Amino acid sequence: MINPIVKGTELSLEIESLAFGGKGVARKDNFVVFVNNTLPGQKVRALVYKKHRGYAEARPLKILRDSPHVVDSLCKHFPVCGGCSTQNLDYKEQVNQKKKQVEDLYIRQAGIDDFTVNKVIAADKQYNYRNKMEFTFSNQEYVPESEKEREPSNFALGLHAPGRWDKILNINECHIQTKIANEILTTIKELTKDLEPYNIREHTGFLRHVMIRVAANTNEIMVNIVTSRDDPELLSPISDTLITKFPSITSIVNNITTRKAGVSMGEHQIVLHGKEYIIEKLGDYEFMISADSFFQTNTKQAEKLYDIILEESQLTGSEIVYDLFCGTGSISLFLSKHAKMVYGFELVTSAVQDAMQNAIHNKVKNAWFFGGNLENLFRENTEAKELDAPDVVVVDPPRAGLHTKTIEDILEKSPKRIVYVSCNPASQARDVALLCNERYKLVKLRPVDMFPHTPHVENVASLIRK
Ligand SMILES: C[S@@+](CC[C@H](N)C(=O)[O-])C[C@H]1O[C@@H](n2cnc3c(N)ncnc32)[C@H](O)[C@@H]1O
Repeated sequence: MINPIVKGTELSLEIESLAFGGKGVARKDNFVVFVNNTLPGQKVRALVYKKHRGYAEARPLKILRDSPHVVDSLCKHFPVCGGCSTQNLDYKEQVNQKKKQVEDLYIRQAGIDDFTVNKVIAADKQYNYRNKMEFTFSNQEYVPESEKEREPSNFALGLHAPGRWDKILNINECHIQTKIANEILTTIKELTKDLEPYNIREHTGFLRHVMIRVAANTNEIMVNIVTSRDDPELLSPISDTLITKFPSITSIVNNITTRKAGVSMGEHQIVLHGKEYIIEKLGDYEFMISADSFFQTNTKQAEKLYDIILEESQLTGSEIVYDLFCGTGSISLFLSKHAKMVYGFELVTSAVQDAMQNAIHNKVKNAWFFGGNLENLFRENTEAKELDAPDVVVVDPPRAGLHTKTIEDILEKSPKRIVYVSCNPASQARDVALLCNERYKLVKLRPVDMFPHTPHVENVASLIRK
């Protein structure tokens, strides 16, 4: 039978669940249709806009019946911003869906079925939880459909509109960052409105990004203003006003980048006020975090995540632990009290320096850090090559997951346990399948909701050597 679903077909669909990534999943005659911006339990009329081999993609035209799990959304930028795309779904249901997604990725995509999945560790705080947000300046404002009568402004500070690399949706209040971060954001917008924002098409203009970091356990605040050139005369008065209005700002830095890509890492940095780092506390440890260093963005959930990593590492005090992709060394230090020695490995030089400083600052003597790219670090760095083999390897890679060379290196080191932490369970499931094809067995998955109202889910996979 020829499948009747083609591009342009209108269908009535019951949304069964949310797929990983946040799209609604429906079925028409056993053919899967992913529907944008829908919730489980909704019945919608939808228009197919893309047909693939085994599935189709559709956009909703009309809600025929609402979901029993629907709630009011808090944010006035919803759903245009695209960031917190499930904020109109009851939080309990968000967490249920995240568990199903993780399970599904492992069973269906990775073909692994003999493991347990714990219930998702929910967040106590579902708003104001992010300790860091980054906003972009632009000369091209994105005007939402509902305001299309008005002209776009040639000054915007906010977030990229979904799918737009060139246009910025003005954001005045983002409910997942803290109240003070929102006040700082609107103050910066007011203070910079007469300066020239960056034009990403022509690569002209001065102001590029603002990053605001508010440490949840110490309340120290860092503001990082990213510009295309060094111009202290323009930035010093802004810095002075900010520290007068917000005395809890302990660090204002200016990162300068001439790169064309829209990233906030600078080629060099000027400290405009205070220190070049802020201090955040996780458990018993204090961490120095500089502007370019990765640090978990939900401090409270990170504490729960690290407790899980510690439990799954099953340390007795005699183990050698490798912490791959260690950032500023937070997992390394967290585990150090329970291990003989922890070695951390990380690409970003400033993060490795922070990790070293953090070990000294916390009087941790059994942790050491190596800088370098893990794709070749164990092959090229003679010191790293000669280390004692690990009993436990913790990995926490970026979204893309592990390079095959890193998987080979882990297999070669043959630790008794692997604790794989990931913000992308899809790439994690792929990598875990490769490890399980060799000498490892997946025992348990322990998802943690670090980012309520978004489709993201953090997941800890616990593997043992067979
Ligand atoms: C998800 S973060 C984990 C950080 C840390 N485990 C934590 O909990 O704070 C991933 C880290 O991997 C680092 N990284 C990315 N690619 C890398 C590579 N090829 N080799 C080594 N480190 C890398 C990034 O700089 C980042 O610090």
